[in-house]
Amino acid sequence: MKRNVKELISQMTLEEKAGMCSGLDFWHLKGVERLGIPSVMVSDGPHGLRKQEEEGDHLGINDSIKAVCFPPAVLSACSFDRDLMHEFGDAIGKEAQANDLSVVLGPAVNIKRSPLCGRNFEYYSEDPYLAGETAAAFINGIQEHHVGTSIKHFAANNQEYNRMSSSSNADERTLREIYFPAFETAVKKSQPYTFMCSYNRINGTFASENPWLLTDVLRNEWGFKGYVMSDWGAVNERVPGLIAGLELEMPSSGGVYDKEIVAAVKDGSLKESILDQAVERILNIVFEYTDHREEQEFTLEADHELAKKIAVESMVLLKNESILPLKETEKIAFIGEFARKPRFQGGGSSHINSFRVSSALDSISPAADVRYAKGFPADADIYDETLAQEAVDAAREADKVVIFAGLPDSFESEGYDRSHMRLPDCQNRLINQILSVQSEVIIVLHNGSPVEMPWLSSVKGVLEAYLGGQAVGEAVADILYGKSCPCGKLAETIPFKLSDNPSYLSFGEGENVTYQEGIFVGYRYYDTKEMPVAFPFGYGLSYTSFAYDHLQIDKSEITDHDTVTVSVDVTNTGHMEGKEIVQLYVSDLTCAARRPVRELKGYEKVSLLPGETKTVHFTLDYRSFAWYNETIGDWYAASGDYEILIGASSRDLMLTGKIHMTTQKILPLKVHMNTTLGELLADQRTAGYVEDFKQKLSQVFGMSSSGERKDGDVAISEAMNTAMIACMPLRNVVSYGFCSKEELLGMIEKMNGQ
Ligand code: BGC
Repeated sequence: MKRNVKELISQMTLEEKAGMCSGLDFWHLKGVERLGIPSVMVSDGPHGLRKQEEEGDHLGINDSIKAVCFPPAVLSACSFDRDLMHEFGDAIGKEAQANDLSVVLGPAVNIKRSPLCGRNFEYYSEDPYLAGETAAAFINGIQEHHVGTSIKHFAANNQEYNRMSSSSNADERTLREIYFPAFETAVKKSQPYTFMCSYNRINGTFASENPWLLTDVLRNEWGFKGYVMSDWGAVNERVPGLIAGLELEMPSSGGVYDKEIVAAVKDGSLKESILDQAVERILNIVFEYTDHREEQEFTLEADHELAKKIAVESMVLLKNESILPLKETEKIAFIGEFARKPRFQGGGSSHINSFRVSSALDSISPAADVRYAKGFPADADIYDETLAQEAVDAAREADKVVIFAGLPDSFESEGYDRSHMRLPDCQNRLINQILSVQSEVIIVLHNGSPVEMPWLSSVKGVLEAYLGGQAVGEAVADILYGKSCPCGKLAETIPFKLSDNPSYLSFGEGENVTYQEGIFVGYRYYDTKEMPVAFPFGYGLSYTSFAYDHLQIDKSEITDHDTVTVSVDVTNTGHMEGKEIVQLYVSDLTCAARRPVRELKGYEKVSLLPGETKTVHFTLDYRSFAWYNETIGDWYAASGDYEILIGASSRDLMLTGKIHMTTQKILPLKVHMNTTLGELLADQRTAGYVEDFKQKLSQVFGMSSSGERKDGDVAISEAMNTAMIACMPLRNVVSYGFCSKEELLGMIEKMNGQ
């Protein structure tokens, strides 16, 4: 049905229009019955439905309907699998249709700046490319059912401490290269129906009233067509917010801000056309949903199976010194309460009322020989002598031990950040005790963000299960016993210790958080610094092995408008069917700007039978090579060479090739009295103007025309001469008497006039 929304708006009163711009209650938008505008419901959250039918809250306190808790983003991102994320979205879309939900509040794509952020479990990655691709696939899956998504939290919401008032202070290049692209990709590849602006300020201005963010960048540059809603209670000043591009205030503020909107229209400080446009954007999405209601059949059972599949395809095997998979004939001890009571999701607004949860202990085959000892509690850091002794005894008697370790709920949650990166002390203590009686030890981790692993070199196996959703136990059991071949890879680096993290000295500040590490977030920092890490970005083991061969790049020379196709052959060289995540990184060799040593620009997951080979293809474009140049306010890849690297993680790069870029983008000249001679000599457009100054300065510094020191003094070398000239500001040529100030100003004008 084609609706005339503008016509409908023309029939609304001013009060009705203002009313459309805020919630009816915690979860509903208002309707206007006389005009046939329905009141629709929105609901959390990204990895399952948290539909509250009675009392609403945004902290996951009150009950919601029984639903399926799929793996939270921290785990699903490790699948590196667009098709799987699409299937996941498809299931959520069907569940939402069946439960009368018009918009699902997610996905959450904020970048993991520090392992300490309390909400990291809800976020995908430290890498914006991976986060963006993952989000777009998920959104497309949901929106194919005409149910909207609300990608969140836009933007730079990377800590929980003072999240409702603190200012995330970062330069524009950092925002554009690290904190924005996941949102940008989602708009360009999946056009989310709605955006949720974050609580925090960005460089001093609240996201909820930031015209640059909500209108210039989001709509005018990226082409967003839906509406923006506030995070719950994120409105600071309503009228400036509406003008900036915040269409919907959530939840209801009891009409307080609706009245301000009405008053502002009446006194002329708000154009009614801005209000009309906001209402139109909201109604377009409301009707997109209500005009496409689908009878949906889904069963919790089937979605539980999908939750298991996503968990299996995402868990990351970090270490395996010939200890896994386990055999049913082996005598195994499962230690730690997480074996019986897994931690599978985080706390806060994404908390799902799971209809069933499986533990590893419940999920092993009846034929497996497993003895369980609690060892330590899952929900607290309490060392108990008796429990510890039982666990040590069980470990001593077993062939192999699996310790189920992890973070208790209280260690990480929405609303606050972690204060350290350690496991509870009681767990590390017991792990060490067990290692003193047993060398065959595997650790399974249940955590929403990395933990330090002081025992890493002494254990033989580590499986990072993260927070696995409600089917976690089945997934862990299948991987441990080799029914499934592990195939997830890390969507973040695991550093050895917290102080290695680049944001260590500025994370968690109150009023103003300075993103002093700039673009060097995650592996962009660790890899550029060549810093040892526990496990690099993109890393993960398999029970089979893969070989990479035959890298092909279809062009060796490109310009701005070209695309490049890269292909590589991957072979399963082991004995088990398995999946490999092939990664493509680009390294800028031009030295035109300070950049990370390499950045992820492509990935593909490929399934291979033993002995099978498949060719994997990637397409790169200008943006794949570019960085955000603030001088031109655009993406820029300088002319020169770039390396293309293919491998199994950011630090396991097997094949490399080179490509030469010739860009047609010309950086504007901004020559002034303090521009250095070095910059001018390096630019073809200006080198000719200053060559003469260079020669004269060399003579001043006592060099012969052949570059040798005339008096034979080796302390002042040619290298020093060159360096001194390169950093000499233009103004100094006047004091050396090479030209008058007027002549120099005239020359500057000519250079800038080119
Ligand atoms: C969270 C959002 C969530 C909203 C509604 C807020 O506290 O930041 O992510 O969607 O509550 O529950």
